[in-house]
This record gives sequence, structure tokens and C-alpha cells, in this order.
Amino acid sequence: MGPLAQPAGSQRTTESPPTARLEMTGISVAFGGVLALTDVSLTVEPGQVHGLIGPNGAGKTTLFNVACGLVRPTEGRIVWRGDELRRLKPAQLTRLGIARTLQGVGLFPLMTVLENVMVGAHRHAKAGFFSALVALPTSDRDERRLRERAMAALAELDAEQYAGRYPGSLPYPVQKRVALARALVADPDLLLLDEPASGLSEEEMNELGDLVRGLSDRMSVLLVEHHMDLVMRVCDRITVLDSGVQIAAGTPAEVQADPAVTEAYLGDAVEAEPTHATTFEGGATRG
Ligand SMILES: Nc1ncnc2c1ncn2[C@@H]1O[C@H](COP(=O)(O)OP(=O)(O)OP(=O)(O)O)[C@@H](O)[C@H]1O
Ligand SMILES: [Mg+2]
Repeated sequence: MGPLAQPAGSQRTTESPPTARLEMTGISVAFGGVLALTDVSLTVEPGQVHGLIGPNGAGKTTLFNVACGLVRPTEGRIVWRGDELRRLKPAQLTRLGIARTLQGVGLFPLMTVLENVMVGAHRHAKAGFFSALVALPTSDRDERRLRERAMAALAELDAEQYAGRYPGSLPYPVQKRVALARALVADPDLLLLDEPASGLSEEEMNELGDLVRGLSDRMSVLLVEHHMDLVMRVCDRITVLDSGVQIAAGTPAEVQADPAVTEAYLGDAVEAEPTHATTFEGGATRG
């Protein structure tokens, strides 16, 4: 257990289990003529790890982007903690208690690892590099406290030794851990992860699985992931998309036994390592 497991600076105590629920109902998204999502509904229950799976192009990232305000749905409702989020913007996420890592890495290349993680803690952190710089605290005391929290987050991800390095100089799996530390440092109620295991070794993937499972004590997680072993091991519930439509939902066992899921993956299974591993979004750096 890392230091973040018992966060010294956290307001949350072990007596208050997660209560925040994310409900996405009847979500449709059209990109020009392409229907990326059609009437998809998904609820991430408090303290649960919810998996979102499906073949390449199924619409997973699109739904993920709806949840973090990067894509505005053509139709549908997003309700977070009982309030409808009508005009959700990524810059509001931290304040709402939501953190995310994007497919790829998305660290700021001109900031050190530590600075990248410190930015993640800021309640009003914006997406851009300059606003991120401005968001860093000005008072010495705030700065010290933030620095300590950022170091603790890095330590939980076993990455504190890279604090002074620039992301571009680090191996891809380390960059991914830093991106996760940046998401965790804000102590979110909901963590959105888009393919956190891509580019990781089997051992790193197992560690990630343990970490995500452990996180569910203090937050809910929406996990978009291609690696089935990981998804089946860590998720409480799973939603399966194919061509923008939900084809199955349930517990890992239910989803695994669903013929519609097997069928959707048949065409995909032949390409063992999907091309998505080379797709980087929103990212300043690459691995
Ligand atoms: N910005 C966009 N403009 C136009 N079409 C898009 C855009 N983003 C996604 N799409 C299309 O929407 C569909 C769903 O894409 P999405 O990226 O959500 O799939 P995915 O399930 O995340 O796939 P992968 O496993 O490859 O990451 C695809 O047909 C894709 O080409
Ligand atoms: Mg995707």
C-alpha cells in the first residue's frame, strides 16, 4: 500500500465510503455522418470499477470523452452526484471531483514530472500548458503541501525517482504511471481511465490491476481497456460496445458468457495487438 492509500492530506476518512454515482443515459454522438454512439446508457456505481470494452472503433473513447466533457453528446443526459451536467467542460473536472487519464499519455513535455503531477491537483486546472503553469500555487506553504502530495502520488505509482525528469526522456510505461499519479493527486471521487494498460508488460499490468482494485475503496473507476484479463479481474460491472451500440452489460462472468460478446470479438481476436497502441490523443508527448 502506498502513501496515497492512507492519504494524509485527504478530507475523506475510511468511515465514509464512496457515494458518488455517474449516470449516462441515452447517449448518442454523431461525428458528421458517422454515428459513433447510439442510445448508450452506463452507470458507474459508487466505489465500483466499471469496465468499458469493445472492438476497435466501438465507441469506447467517444463515451469516455462524453464523461469528461471533451465530446458533447448529440443526445442524452449525464448526471453526476444527482446533478445533471449540461455543459460539462474538461476544465471543470477537477472541481467536480473527476480525474482522467487519456488514451496515450498527455503529459506536458516542458514541465517536469513533479510539475505535471502538481498541476493535476489544482482545483481549477485548465487543459492548456500556460494556464497549467499559472495554476501552480504562488505561496510557499501551498506549494510545499502540493509538492508533498504530488510526491506521495508519484511514490504510490513507484515513480518518485523521476520527479525531476521531463516526460519525453522517460520510457512509455513510466510516463503512463506519471499520468496516473497526476490523476490521483486530486483525490477524485471518479477516475476515468482510457487504456491505462496499453504498452505495459504483464507484470506492470498486474500491478496496475491491484492498484485499480485498491482505488475502489475511495473512488469509482470507469476503465476503458482492451486487455481482457485485466478487465475481468478488476471490474465489478462491464459494458460492451460494438459499432456504437451497447451489446451486453453485466458482471464479468455474465459478459464473458454472452454469445453476442464472443461474436463481436471474433473478427478482432485475430489481430492480437490492435493498432490503437500507436494512437495518442490530446497528448503532448509520445512513448
Ligand atoms: N473526432 C472524430 N471525428 C470523426 N469520427 C470520429 C471521431 N472520434 C471517433 N470517431 C469515430 O467514431 C467511432 C468510435 O471511435 P472511438 O475512438 O470512440 O472507438 P474506440 O472504441 O475507442 O476504439 P479504439 O479501441 O480503437 O480506441 C469510430 O468509427 C471513429 O472513427
Ligand atoms: Mg479508444
